[in-house]
Amino acid sequence: MATVNTEGNGPGHVGADAGPRCPHLDGYAPLSPGQLANPYPMWAHARATAPVFYDERLGMWSVTRYQDVVGVLRDPETFSSAEAFALRQPRLPEELATRIPPGFWRPRMLVAHDPPEHTKLRRLAQKAFTRERVAALEPFIRSTCHQLVDRFPERGEVDLMVAYANALPLKVITSILGFEADEGPDLRQWTEDFLVMATPARDGEDDDVADAQIVGRIERMVAMTERCAALVEERRQAPRDDVISALVQAADTGDVQVAPYDLVTLALELVIAGNDTTANLISHMVHYLLEDRPLWEQLLADRTLVPAAVEETLRRRGSSKGLFRRATADVTIGEAQVRSGDILHVLFASANHDEALFTDPERFDLYREKVGEHVGFGRFRHSCLGAPLARLEGRVALEVLLERIPGLEPVPEQHLEYAPTLTTQTLLHYRVSVPRFRETP
Ligand code: HEM
Repeated sequence: MATVNTEGNGPGHVGADAGPRCPHLDGYAPLSPGQLANPYPMWAHARATAPVFYDERLGMWSVTRYQDVVGVLRDPETFSSAEAFALRQPRLPEELATRIPPGFWRPRMLVAHDPPEHTKLRRLAQKAFTRERVAALEPFIRSTCHQLVDRFPERGEVDLMVAYANALPLKVITSILGFEADEGPDLRQWTEDFLVMATPARDGEDDDVADAQIVGRIERMVAMTERCAALVEERRQAPRDDVISALVQAADTGDVQVAPYDLVTLALELVIAGNDTTANLISHMVHYLLEDRPLWEQLLADRTLVPAAVEETLRRRGSSKGLFRRATADVTIGEAQVRSGDILHVLFASANHDEALFTDPERFDLYREKVGEHVGFGRFRHSCLGAPLARLEGRVALEVLLERIPGLEPVPEQHLEYAPTLTTQTLLHYRVSVPRFRETP
C-alpha cells in the first residue's frame, strides 16, 4: 500500500530525475516479441519478487499487484493522470513539423486529465455516450456481425482478427461517431499509429531523428486530427444523430464549457479507445474458447454463459495492458520509493492475474469466483466510459459466431504476434478455419 511522504523529501531525496531507483527486475523487456506475446510469466515473477520495480530504459515504475494497482487508481491526488503520457517526439522534416497542431504531443484526452477539468469533460462525454444510445445499437451490431460472417470464405481459412474482430468495432465506432463508413481502415491504421507512438522509446531504438516509418505514422496522425477537426465543424453547422453532434451540442449549449480543440481530442480518444480494445476482447475470447474445445462446446450448449466468457476474457487477457500515472508527491509503495514527478505504469493486466485474488490465473474459467473484481476497465474516476459498449459488442460477436459457425476451428500452431505497445495487448492476426456456416437467420 502506498504511504505518502508529505513532509517532503527526507534526507535522501534529490528530485524527480536524479539518482538511481530500485528495485529493478532483471530480464524485463516489455517490447520484446516474446514478452509482447506472453508478458504473464515476467509479471508473475515481478509480483513475487519486486511488485513495484523501476526500469531505467523506459524511465518508469511498473505496478504489478492487484492491491497496489487499485491503491494507485483510488488516489488520483497522489497519482495524477495529467501529464502522465505523451507521444514520442522525434525530429521531423520541416514541412511536417509546421503542420503539427498545438497540444499534439501531449493530447489532452480524458485519460490525461485530473479534476476539475476531468469531471467537466467526463460529464460532457457521458451526455453524448449514454447507456440508451449504446443499448439501442444491439440490432445494428448483430446485423453487422452477420454481414461480416457472410463474407467469410466457406471451407477455408480466415483471419478472424482482421475480418471480424477489428471490422466490427470499426463499423460501430465510425457509425456512432459520424465518420463515413469507408473511413474505417484509416481509423484503424491511425489507432495503431497512436498506440505505437504513445509508447516511450522502443528497446534500443534511437528516437532522435524520425525514420520513414515514424514519419509516416505522424503524417497519418496529423491528417486524422485535421479530419476530426473538420468533422466537428461540419456537425456544428449541420448536426446529425451521432455522438460528435451530441458532443458539439452539449458543449455549445453552455451546460459544459470546453475549449473547441478539446472536442477534437475527445473524438479522437473515442476512436482510439473504441476499436482496438474491443477487437482484442473478441479475438482473445474466441482464441481461449477454441483452444480448449470443451469450453466452446459448453457455450454452444448454453448461451447464458456468454457474458461470463466476456468477463473472463477481460480478466485473462485484458486488452488494456496498462496506463500511466505521475506521482505528485514522494510516496512509498512497498519497497519502492517513488519520487514526485516519477511515472508509473499501472498494469491492469498483471493485477488481473494476481494469485492473491484469482486462483490459477492462467486458467480460463467460465465459473470463476470474483471475476467481477477484475480491473480490465480500470476503476474509479477514470473507469472505462465505453465498458457497456465493449461488453455489448463482445457478447453479440460471440453469439453470432456460435450460431453461424459452430464448427469453427483455430488454425493449428500459429504464432500469435503483437504490436509493440505498452498500453494495449494488440494481436495482429488470428487465423481460424471455417468448415461451413449456416445461412443468415
Ligand atoms: C474491451 C474493450 C475496452 C477495454 C479493455 C477498455 C479499457 C479501459 C481502461 C482500463 C480504462 C481506464 C484508463 C485509466 O484508468 O487511465 C479506460 C478508459 C476509457 N475508455 Fe475504455 N476500454 C475498452 C473499450 C472502450 C470503448 C468501446 C470506448 C468508447 C468508444 C472506450 C472509451 C474509454 C474512455 C473515453 C476512457 C477514459 C475515461 C476517463 O478517463 O474518464 N473504451 N478504458
